[in-house]
Amino acid sequence: MTTLRFQPVTACFGATVAGIDLREEIGPDHACAVREALDRFHVLIFPSQAIDDAAHLSLARVLGEPLVHPFERAMGRGESIHALVDRADRPPARPGWHTDDSYLAAPPTYGLLRCEVAPSSGGHTLWADMTAAHETLSPSLQTFLAELKGWHATSGALLDYVRAHLPPDRVAHVEEEVGEGASHPLVLTHPESGVRSIYFEPNFVTRIEGLSPAESRFVCAFLTRLPNRVSLQIRHRWRPGDVVVWDERTTQHTGTADHAGQERIMRRCTVFGPRPR
Ligand code: SIN
Repeated sequence: MTTLRFQPVTACFGATVAGIDLREEIGPDHACAVREALDRFHVLIFPSQAIDDAAHLSLARVLGEPLVHPFERAMGRGESIHALVDRADRPPARPGWHTDDSYLAAPPTYGLLRCEVAPSSGGHTLWADMTAAHETLSPSLQTFLAELKGWHATSGALLDYVRAHLPPDRVAHVEEEVGEGASHPLVLTHPESGVRSIYFEPNFVTRIEGLSPAESRFVCAFLTRLPNRVSLQIRHRWRPGDVVVWDERTTQHTGTADHAGQERIMRRCTVFGPRPR
């Protein structure tokens, strides 16, 4: 078995992985090394892997159960890998900094994105280190935030899509499956590594529980800006075959959506649930 090598992207965040061929079965030693490296680096970049959906799901299973979104389940579908397709007639749109599907009661724990077609310029993805973001805060602010929970309301865009495309009885079924939203602590303690991170989703958090509306807006505005600090970020310029895996609890990510007029095809999935040991 080859030993995995990790080349850090910055002093504390993100690493490029060498010494693994993801087309081959991932043995227990490599699986363990990937999990430990994710705890340390939060984002792992596997360049030029050219894997298919089956290998993508095998990598996902190293980290948990591939998530079939409740919306997909309610629509009678069972796919956990989805294509993100941007073309000249379908310009890129991305929601800005976010962590995926945080309005679910059990939100994703890891995300996995792979590139099939890369634009010749632009179309990069950025990740922000929300553990380091927490460390930048004063102990007093850390203590204040640690007692608070954010209410993550179910994506309005998702519900609008459902209402526009399904008969009312099916809409009710989807709403029941997906739920209205979920309450999560603003400071998460990672179950494996024990690190503390800011867990906040600017698109879905509508209020901070226990605060007045004005206080809530103030805290949300502050937390929304946290990933903007350049020293917390890494950026990946995609090439076809690249695979990137990240911890959804300790990072936020955003596509740059700056490749209008060009084709970009990505495939992504998330996982949830306890991590295999
Ligand atoms: C995502 O937001 O999950 C995808 C990011 C990207 O397309 O670069």
